[in-house]
Amino acid sequence: MRCATRRWRVSSRFALAIQWVTARFMPGGSVGFTRVCYLLEEPYMGRSLAGSRVLVLGGSSGIGLATAKAAAAGGAKVTLASRSTDKVNAAVAQVGHGAAGAALDTTSDAALEAFFSTQPEWDHIVVSVAAGRSGGLHDLSLQDAYGNMNAKFWTAYKTARLARITPDGSLTLVSGYLSQRPNKDALLQGCINAALESLGRGLALALSPVRVNTISPGLIDTPIRAAMPADRKKAMLEHAAATLPARRVGQAEDVADAILMLMTNPFTTGSTLFVDGGGMIS
Ligand SMILES: NC(=O)c1ccc[n+]([C@@H]2O[C@H](COP(=O)([O-])OP(=O)(O)OC[C@H]3O[C@@H](n4cnc5c(N)ncnc54)[C@H](OP(=O)(O)O)[C@@H]3O)[C@@H](O)[C@H]2O)c1
Repeated sequence: MRCATRRWRVSSRFALAIQWVTARFMPGGSVGFTRVCYLLEEPYMGRSLAGSRVLVLGGSSGIGLATAKAAAAGGAKVTLASRSTDKVNAAVAQVGHGAAGAALDTTSDAALEAFFSTQPEWDHIVVSVAAGRSGGLHDLSLQDAYGNMNAKFWTAYKTARLARITPDGSLTLVSGYLSQRPNKDALLQGCINAALESLGRGLALALSPVRVNTISPGLIDTPIRAAMPADRKKAMLEHAAATLPARRVGQAEDVADAILMLMTNPFTTGSTLFVDGGGMIS
């Protein structure tokens, strides 16, 4: 942990030394780390990602890819994984900074177990795997429904069971606004997202002191809607931009930015963070 300074970088030892001195000699008790940064007139920057091992499941596209790029730019050693080797290779090239990739279908228990058994501890893991096709109660086949639950919910659950994460590290799950704003045409998606948000809170207790949080995106312009007819997609995004309080459509980078905060803020755990342009209140 360290705080940035215009003139020099204050090491955690220096800040801790100030805390110790104040605890020893100040009648009111010690001054916290954040306060020390403030007293030094420097912005508090949370934990640095420099040198940390970051895994992004579903990291070859959209929110996962933007998160992988942001973490790598912040100095992390990033590994991204998804099913398609071509997408993984293309994403690794885009992320740069020595990123690694793995072709991995997280719905396969055996593949996921084999992957984690060969890996040392991670500092931070983000699960951004998308479910498949959505649909209403009678349009979505039960086979697709089970597949969606498998890809999105069980991937997160199994990752929490299998992955080794450093005690001061984090696990971030990605849910979605349908958890709070159900849609009859994507009924199960809302249930999966609600289950993930509950899972995130439970895991924050079960994996403590590893911090576990859930990010709940609103409408984000990513390749997830690649199969949607272009004119329908355009109309949907324009409507969102005109009606959301933020008056814009979300970008993958908006969500990645918030995920990095959840990774690095040492006092945030068990929370669900809505990055939805105000969709929840409109
Ligand atoms: N975009 C939005 O508007 C929005 C809104 C709310 C919530 N979300 C949620 O945010 C998450 C990320 O969405 P996105 O928009 O970034 O979607 P995206 O661009 O389609 O990315 C999804 C990623 O998941 C990977 N994936 C899918 N199935 C997989 C599997 N079985 N094993 C491993 N990887 C798998 C895909 O790669 P492969 O195809 O190579 O496997 C891809 O890298 C999803 O959970 C989504 O539901 C998105």
